[in-house]
Amino acid sequence: MPTKSFDLEAIVRPNIWGLDPYRCARDDYSDGILLDANENSYGPVSLTSPEQSRLQLHRYPDPLGRPVKERLLKLRPGVKSIDQIFLGVGSDEVIDLLVRVLCNPGIDEILITPPTYGMYKVVAAINDIGVVKVPLDVENGRFQLQTDQILDTLKEHPNVKIIWLCSPGNPTATRLKQEDVEKILNSSFKGIVVVDEAYIDFSSSKEDLSLAPLINSYPNLMVMQTLSKSFGLAGIRLGVGFADSQLISVLNKAKAPYNLSSLALDAALNALSDKSIQTMKATTAHLVRQRDEYLVPELLKLPLIGGIVGQSEANFVLARFVDKDNKPNDALAHKIYLEMAENRGLVVRYRGTELGCDACLRITVGTEDENKQLLKTLRTLLEAEIANENK
Ligand SMILES: Cc1ncc(COP(=O)(O)O)c(C=O)c1O
Repeated sequence: MPTKSFDLEAIVRPNIWGLDPYRCARDDYSDGILLDANENSYGPVSLTSPEQSRLQLHRYPDPLGRPVKERLLKLRPGVKSIDQIFLGVGSDEVIDLLVRVLCNPGIDEILITPPTYGMYKVVAAINDIGVVKVPLDVENGRFQLQTDQILDTLKEHPNVKIIWLCSPGNPTATRLKQEDVEKILNSSFKGIVVVDEAYIDFSSSKEDLSLAPLINSYPNLMVMQTLSKSFGLAGIRLGVGFADSQLISVLNKAKAPYNLSSLALDAALNALSDKSIQTMKATTAHLVRQRDEYLVPELLKLPLIGGIVGQSEANFVLARFVDKDNKPNDALAHKIYLEMAENRGLVVRYRGTELGCDACLRITVGTEDENKQLLKTLRTLLEAEIANENK
């Protein structure tokens, strides 16, 4: 349970804390004869279907996406109010905005735990923010936080404003231990801890393992999720941040006035109906069975695949390629990756340069047909490799 006090004002950039935000027309009124926002009352030039008319695309969208947030409360019952929810153009916008409101360019830093999602450090670089790295414990694919090392490092870097944790991790596919996350939340660290749960539904098929309910206890926590993965809606670009309402109001103040399009909000509303949430859960459970009962066991039967690294709690797995003596063979992993992408129309991700992922390819769990095709191609290439070596 949290014991420490938390001062948001002390960590938000002063220019943002004192910002008088732009007040857009739809913040004030959205009904009646609307002649307040310089929209075109004659309607869209090119869209005519009844569906598109319903969306009133000539009008600016709801600036805060309130109906979508109401539905998110049903998905994550531990979150109590729509004031604890921020909606972004994908989680990538949430990442960017958090850095921009909290970190002073050229002065502040973020802390990441490699191997991890690449955008945290890219956003930091774009905003001239330093990056402090405390690697995960990668021994035997454990991929867990080294909390004592993180806490020691924070003492040497008092300007760290954000700690980015990814759970389940990309590319580790491994969920972080809640007790480790809480140890950091309860430490003397004064900034924000972000837990990026883009893949949480793939590890929660039996019970809801999201840390989102912890935002009620920890004002220094943000939990990020997205409709890009389990909901299958990467194209609409909708990411979610759950946090204490005070932090959410700072993000709302600094975001673009109408960051989410009417089309994205409508698609999200449909995706979060009771029926669609049931479909998401069923599809996710099916994908998890494909992963655990077919793809992983069949990958392990292939020659020159030494093992699956990490816990496979996401919609992808990390497969390690080895030589005849069972030693990681990074050259082979890279060769197979290139051959599949260039000549076999089968694209996976080479992750061999990431810490603890030596000789690994990251493979997304596809449909049954796609998985079958992948395994067949891998078998052909790996058997040819062995035949070549035996020549
Ligand atoms: C860990 C993690 N966070 C965030 C994202 C980005 O998600 P979005 O599509 O919501 O921007 C990804 C995308 O691959 C991811 O792997």
